[in-house]
Amino acid sequence: MPRRFACKVDDLEPGTSMVLPGDDSIALFRTEAGEFFATGDTCTHEEWSLGEDSDLEGDEVVCPLHMARFDLRTGKALCLPATIALQTYTVVIEDGQVFVE
Ligand code: FES
Repeated sequence: MPRRFACKVDDLEPGTSMVLPGDDSIALFRTEAGEFFATGDTCTHEEWSLGEDSDLEGDEVVCPLHMARFDLRTGKALCLPATIALQTYTVVIEDGQVFVE
């Protein structure tokens, strides 16, 4: 995937997430520890935007609809009802700007 600008580092508060501008299929997360991760936006259980509405717990994202959990580093589904991993993308930070590729 070509590199895409996501936001400035300070635009995304720790413990929050967003949908990548211009590409609503990718979610960008910033953990409470300040690390950035990017995955597919749609929960693999049913249709739900993880970038718009999800809970971060450490390096895991929890879908609020049926409580499936995913590892943000690998995309792996950690519990039912989800069994399919989220796609993951590389996040690059340069000069205070966040890019996904
Ligand atoms: S839609 Fe995410 S757990 Fe069901």
